[in-house]
Amino acid sequence: MEITVKRNRVFAPCWSTKCRYVAMKGSAGSGKSCDCATFYIIRLLTERGRNLLCVRKSEVTHRTSTYNELCKAIKRLGLSRFFKCSVSPLKITCTLGGEILFCGVNDDSAREKLKSVTAADGNITDVWIEEATELTRDDFEIIDDRLRGTLDGDLFYQIRLSFNPVSASHWIKKAFFDTDDKNVLAHHSTYLDNAFCDKAYHTRMERRRITDPEGYRVYGLGQWGEAGGLVLQNFEVKSFDTDPQSFDSIRYGQDFGFNHANALLSVGIKDGDIYVLKELYLREKTTDEIIALAGDWSKKTPMICDSAEPDRIHMWRRAGYAARGVKKYPGSVKGGIDWLKARRIFIHPSCEGVIDEISQWRWLKNPDGSYSDEPTPIRDDAMAALRYAVSEWQGADRQTKPALPAPRPFFTGKSTGERGRKQKII
Ligand SMILES: Nc1ncnc2c1ncn2[C@@H]1O[C@H](COP(=O)(O)OP(=O)(O)OP(=O)(O)O)[C@@H](O)[C@H]1O
Ligand SMILES: [Mg+2]
Repeated sequence: MEITVKRNRVFAPCWSTKCRYVAMKGSAGSGKSCDCATFYIIRLLTERGRNLLCVRKSEVTHRTSTYNELCKAIKRLGLSRFFKCSVSPLKITCTLGGEILFCGVNDDSAREKLKSVTAADGNITDVWIEEATELTRDDFEIIDDRLRGTLDGDLFYQIRLSFNPVSASHWIKKAFFDTDDKNVLAHHSTYLDNAFCDKAYHTRMERRRITDPEGYRVYGLGQWGEAGGLVLQNFEVKSFDTDPQSFDSIRYGQDFGFNHANALLSVGIKDGDIYVLKELYLREKTTDEIIALAGDWSKKTPMICDSAEPDRIHMWRRAGYAARGVKKYPGSVKGGIDWLKARRIFIHPSCEGVIDEISQWRWLKNPDGSYSDEPTPIRDDAMAALRYAVSEWQGADRQTKPALPAPRPFFTGKSTGERGRKQKII
């Protein structure tokens, strides 16, 4: 049988290498995910005895990422007759042998599951860690530890990590890019290497080069992002019970936008910790359209909105929501940030807009290269919504009413993975 594989040349070394670790750093849209999916489908079909485990920080995100990419690759390659894709449980089986399983490493139970996951036939030989900067070094060690034991014939173990290089301080840089190791293939790609990239994407990236040079460095050039200067580092992305009853209080925060994102967040407070429960993070939607999409958002929960747009607040009020404008005062942005910095912030993995923004929201730089105390006013829509949501709790604290518990001690421990949508810093 002959299979026609259309792929980007830049990834050729990743196809031929036998290195245990293949670290695929690249800009947004460089073709990493498509290439990994194509590669694994061909590998499973042509090499007997292989089983693939796909890992992401949060297991629920596989359905819309790795699983989808793999299913699309099967279709693209015209190999549907050789693969069975099932959603419940999430699994892809090759009719000639070999399967693809999916796991997370979000919490202890997910890690335990990962430690015990086995393929129906033979060993797990391959691991694809998608958006690998989401993972901590400890998460990675657990996965690496899984691949042991002798394998038949020419088989060998291999772990591929695909990611955008969000921060030069990330453990992945040190582990795979800063040391010369014959077990590692350190790979680099950009959207310019992707022959399947459309012109509009090139134009968007060119725009970004001008409006957001630091973001362009990472997402356009695929170069390591700056290590320092993040406004909020005291957050953790993790699953938690989002039942409003589990919190001391809930507020919605909304920053209006059309070309920029319109960010609507549900934020809870419990024992002084802040929880981002859910988001509606949308671009190019009118207020009416957003209201229609907010069907499952409670009309009783106070919704604190950007006071600069009273007409839009009025529309939400007319739709029955408890919308009101945030109180702004000199220094309110800085005050809100300081208040948030003194707390622990937990973000539900479903809130991708918040995770994306908080992971790259930096202080502006002074001409001498030092950081000012002004945050960068780019990609900060969810950050504004977060400040609005907590503004009344912050106000209660400012009036020194003992209404809210004092913040818990700050996170201790190490700084870990960092990346756009997907960061965990503890
Ligand atoms: N082999 C391929 N065949 C067909 N289309 C492809 C292929 N490789 C890449 N593309 C196209 O390029 C787009 C970007 O590729 P992909 O999503 O894999 O990039 P990425 O590097 O994973 O980006 P990100 O860092 O944002 O996750 C895809 O949506 C797809 O349209
Ligand atoms: Mg990708």
